[in-house]
Amino acid sequence: MEIIIKPNAAEARLETANLLRRQLDRKSDSVLGLATGSTPIGVYALLVGMHAQDGLDFSRVRTFNLDEYVGLGSDHPCSYRQFMEEHLFGRVNIGVGNIHFPNGLARDITKHCDEYEAAIQKVGGIDLQLLGIGRDGHIGFNEPSSSLASRTRLKTITPQTSADNATCFGGADKVPHHVITMGVGTIMEARQCVLIATGSAKATAVAQMAEGPITADCPASVLQMHPRCQLIVDEESAGRLKRAEYYRWVYDHKPEWQRCGAAPKAVAAGSRS
Ligand code: GLP
Repeated sequence: MEIIIKPNAAEARLETANLLRRQLDRKSDSVLGLATGSTPIGVYALLVGMHAQDGLDFSRVRTFNLDEYVGLGSDHPCSYRQFMEEHLFGRVNIGVGNIHFPNGLARDITKHCDEYEAAIQKVGGIDLQLLGIGRDGHIGFNEPSSSLASRTRLKTITPQTSADNATCFGGADKVPHHVITMGVGTIMEARQCVLIATGSAKATAVAQMAEGPITADCPASVLQMHPRCQLIVDEESAGRLKRAEYYRWVYDHKPEWQRCGAAPKAVAAGSRS
C-alpha cells in the first residue's frame, strides 16, 4: 500500500482528484468505482472544475457506485444516487446510460446484486475504485464482520454508521437499516483502489487499516493485500500511524514520474506499491 500524507484535507483531495484525472487521461473510457460520504465531495468538486476549465471528458467514462440504501428510490433526496447527481453526474458530461447504481427498490435483491456483479464483469471490471472509510473501518457499507471475500449483497449497517450518516435523514432513527453494497471481494478485484480519509475522527480506522492485522473486524485492512492501492490522508487522519515519518520520506523521494499529483502528460506510468 502506498501511503500519502498531505498537510491538510484540501491537498489530500487535490492529490486524489489528480490521480483520477490521470486515470481518465490514460483511458478515456475508464470504469470508475465511486464512493459517497462527505469526504469525496471535495474531490468531485475538483473534478467538476477540471471538466469546466480544462475539458476533462466524462463522455466515455462508465461508473459503478459502491452502495445504496434499501427502500430509497433513485430520486429520493437522501439516496446515494441523488448525492452523486448533485456532486458529480449532474455537473459533468457523463452519459446517463454509463452510470450504474445498486437499486434500493429492487424487488429481488439477491438477483439484483448478482446482476450488478455481472454488469461489472461485462465491462471488463473496475479500473479504479475510489473509497472512503467509516470510523469503524468499513468500506462501501461492509461493516465489521463482513466476509473479506464478500460480493454485492444486502447488509445491515451499525448504529454508529446510522448516526454518522444521519444528517440528510434528520436523525439516526430515520436512516434505513438495510443497504446494498459491493462486497469486499468485489472491491478487491478493482485494478486500482484509492482510499481518501481526512480528519482526526478517522485516525484510528486509518491506523488499523494500514498497520493493523488484516481482519474482518476492520474490513478496509484487506486493502493491505491489494497489489495497487493508494491511501491518501491528511495530517489529522494520519495522526495514529506509527510509521508516518517513513511514509513521508518515501513520498518525498519518489521519482517525479511516479507522483500522483504530477501533471498528467508528464506521467509515463502509474506507481505500484
Ligand atoms: C458511508 C459510505 C462509505 C463512506 C463512509 C464515510 O458509510 N457508505 O462509502 O466511506 O460513509 O463517509 P464520510 O466520508 O462522510 O466520513
